[in-house]
Amino acid sequence: MNFTSNKNFEVKVFFVYEGQGLDMLTQETLEYAQKQLLFKGKAGQIYSHLGPRTENKILVGLGKKEALTTNILRQAGHDAGAELNKHKVIKASIHKITHPDMDTFGFAQYLAEGFMQNDYQFDRYKEKPQPKTLKLLSFEGYKDTEGLEESLTEIVNVMDGVSMAKDMVNLPPNELTPETMAMLAQQELGKIGVSVEIFGEEWIKEQGMDAYMAVADGSKNRPRFIQLSYLPLGEEVPAVALVGKGLTYDTGGYALKPAASMRTMKCDMGGSASVFGTIYALAKNQIQANVVGIVAAAENMISGNAMRNDDIVSSMKGLSIEIGNTDAEGRLTLADALYYAATQVNSEWIIDIATLTGAAVVALGDHTTAAITNNDDLLAKIQASAEASGEYVWQLPSYPEMRKQIKGEFTDLVNVTGRMGGAITAGLFLEEFVEKKPWVHLDIAGPAYTKTGWGYLHKGGTGIPVKTLYNFLKNRG
Ligand code: BES
Ligand code: ZN
Ligand code: ZN
Repeated sequence: MNFTSNKNFEVKVFFVYEGQGLDMLTQETLEYAQKQLLFKGKAGQIYSHLGPRTENKILVGLGKKEALTTNILRQAGHDAGAELNKHKVIKASIHKITHPDMDTFGFAQYLAEGFMQNDYQFDRYKEKPQPKTLKLLSFEGYKDTEGLEESLTEIVNVMDGVSMAKDMVNLPPNELTPETMAMLAQQELGKIGVSVEIFGEEWIKEQGMDAYMAVADGSKNRPRFIQLSYLPLGEEVPAVALVGKGLTYDTGGYALKPAASMRTMKCDMGGSASVFGTIYALAKNQIQANVVGIVAAAENMISGNAMRNDDIVSSMKGLSIEIGNTDAEGRLTLADALYYAATQVNSEWIIDIATLTGAAVVALGDHTTAAITNNDDLLAKIQASAEASGEYVWQLPSYPEMRKQIKGEFTDLVNVTGRMGGAITAGLFLEEFVEKKPWVHLDIAGPAYTKTGWGYLHKGGTGIPVKTLYNFLKNRG
């Protein structure tokens, strides 16, 4: 689907505030619509008048002007796109609408995002894919068409990054292994000028990443450590390190998950997918911010080489870790990835993104990312970007009393003891490896994947939190 400006197509979309005069309708249609109480402009309402010898208009409600949010706009764009596709429309024009408190181009971007969220589908395994009909949308009535088209290009690039992350999560684990994930990153990011380095197990062992290897050893699909460098400011300028959990599948290991909880564990590389998608969007839009992406990709399986509960392993930092539960594997891979990001990368800030704990979902539900930090200012910046992106990030406390839950009896650390405050103790475990650099941990176990779909997100991978990370890094640049 493409966007353009000021092309007058036959089908027109009008976004309408509740209570606003429907002066875009002919008197006859207006009377009909009102008499039938078909359309008042409430958020979520749609009135379409399409077909031969009609006005070919679609009205999409935005609700009260005072109550407008960016997510209402995204949803409205999504719903308008769905309606146009339902009627097999190929091209349509969007009547210009603004809001006194919103940047005009930003307004168009939110709508465009909604159309693109609707356009996304993962149909490559279907015998007969049913492509959407809507191919071209024109934003009408803009004088500064250059400014508009620049904004549209920006959001298209961001959404391409979001779709890349969704695709990677949706790919089945028999196809997306650590090796193929690395190759895919190489392919997609290498061609837009991002440096992609891929290291195999020999290198991983040389680094002393024993905690990571303990997880990786259970699978015949061997690990890949992936480092992406996007350094438009030059190597000397410290980068933001984005560290993504990259478990291409999580069976739980010997602490095997029950079948129902194992289902959807292909999403356990959602953190790394968001790192790839974010760096894609930054590079395509030539954002001036140095970023290094780190993914310690592995698969958590069962075999004669798999780790056991009770094993004791070392780590790149040298701390010993007792395996309380093989299903708490993410923090083992991240321990080494974070320590590497803190000590081997010219990094100023570290952000990790991980489908880390079911406890985060129990605490905050399916839609909200749980955050833990050692630096409230850094988290505040990320939360502001989340807000602008229509994504939800909520801080969990990390009081010192809880640290004793990750101290080992016979070792320096233990990966799990009890269930209480599980999302917090997981975060505290990670904090041990960031060497006091400003750090934020984003637990996306809830929002990375949706079984049911919600709002403008379809079933499957959501691409969360690509938009948040992109906006955060854009504002920094
Ligand atoms: N990958 C899971 C966490 C997860 C749960 C992601 C639900 C997405 C949706 C993680 O590796 C895990 O299994 N965590 C355990 C930790 C427990 C053993 C302390 C959990 O949450 O049950
Ligand atoms: Zn697990
Ligand atoms: Zn996991």
